Amino acid sequence: MSQPHLVPTFAVISGAQVQHALQDREKQIVDLVEATYHLHAAGESVNPPSYFLRFPDRPTARIIALPASIGGPAPVDGIKWISSFPDNVQAGIPRASAVLILNDHDTGYPFACLESSIISATRTAASAALAADHLTRSRLRPTRIGFIGTGLIARYIHTFLTALGWSFEETGVHDLSVDSAAGFRDHVRQSDAAGQVTVHESAEAVIRSSDLVVFATIAGEPHIGDPAWFDHNPLVLHVSLRDLAPEIILASANIVDDVDHCLKADTSPHLAEQLTGNRDFLHGTLADVMTGRVTPPTDRPLVFSPFGLGVLDLAVGTYVYKETARSGHLHVIEDFFHDLSRHG
Ligand SMILES: NC(=O)c1ccc[n+]([C@@H]2O[C@H](COP(=O)([O-])OP(=O)(O)OC[C@H]3O[C@@H](n4cnc5c(N)ncnc54)[C@H](O)[C@@H]3O)[C@@H](O)[C@H]2O)c1
Repeated sequence: MSQPHLVPTFAVISGAQVQHALQDREKQIVDLVEATYHLHAAGESVNPPSYFLRFPDRPTARIIALPASIGGPAPVDGIKWISSFPDNVQAGIPRASAVLILNDHDTGYPFACLESSIISATRTAASAALAADHLTRSRLRPTRIGFIGTGLIARYIHTFLTALGWSFEETGVHDLSVDSAAGFRDHVRQSDAAGQVTVHESAEAVIRSSDLVVFATIAGEPHIGDPAWFDHNPLVLHVSLRDLAPEIILASANIVDDVDHCLKADTSPHLAEQLTGNRDFLHGTLADVMTGRVTPPTDRPLVFSPFGLGVLDLAVGTYVYKETARSGHLHVIEDFFHDLSRHG
């Protein structure tokens, strides 16, 4: 049994500290995400299905629990608890809010609680940038990018692509909200890497004029249904997971982060599975591509659908914890664990 002196301390890490630890570290974070995908593919992780808490009185809202455990040389367990309340945006605060709890491998004790909307957006963008790199190695490198849905996640993906050396001749932008599209347009125009930036009135115009298409909407069901819009075989980073009709998935090569995770919760690949009764339309995982086990065909659109794995949050959260501890700014809550003597 653990003695009190073995009980870990408990620290709280604010969003400002998280941002400070991750600032200008895009390349390291992409490497970390890549290493974590390899660990996951090697079976050195436990990543059960995410649990979706939904509410009859607030049908557009949800809170998702993502428990996970990473093995390897620096094992850690934990859980991300992330809310999505789309109406927040109109009220002037971000849609998503989150905490990440890190648990000690040996005692199970939680040793940190981190603000995690930044960690979540960071690992999502790092995964998208990693995918863009690996999935274009056997194709022409895209020079025209299009963003459909231009909120916080689109901004993080743009930042990560730029930090990894991507630059574009054209950047297309489309959002149902004129304000979102204009805000994002003004943001990407500050970057030298965006080329000519155009706001398009329709998703079709963005798709047809882009060879790298990023979906970061909050669509709950497919709103893109015509496979002909993808006749030029673009790479599609389908981060919001539910934009594409199953017909488009079936006409494309499909790469996911984790097969069992992604074929759930009415994602577009899940709808394609329900339509066909099989998973033949899947070509493999990103880890398969990274290790050379799979080379996606180039004669059709290529769609990356990342469900988003809790192990990535754990890896990035642990990085933030270590950086914050190293800098001497860990905010430890004294006496957080109390009454530790079994019989008083
Ligand atoms: N796969 C993953 O790992 C992962 C991780 C984090 C977030 N996400 C997803 O990314 C998406 C974006 O998140 P966010 O924080 O940027 O949200 P956000 O609310 O900040 O932005 C979403 C934007 O999409 C726009 N939009 C909604 N429906 C649209 C449509 N049909 N066409 C065009 N634009 C549309 C909205 O107007 C809004 O500007 C969410 O669906 C979220 O669940 C995925």
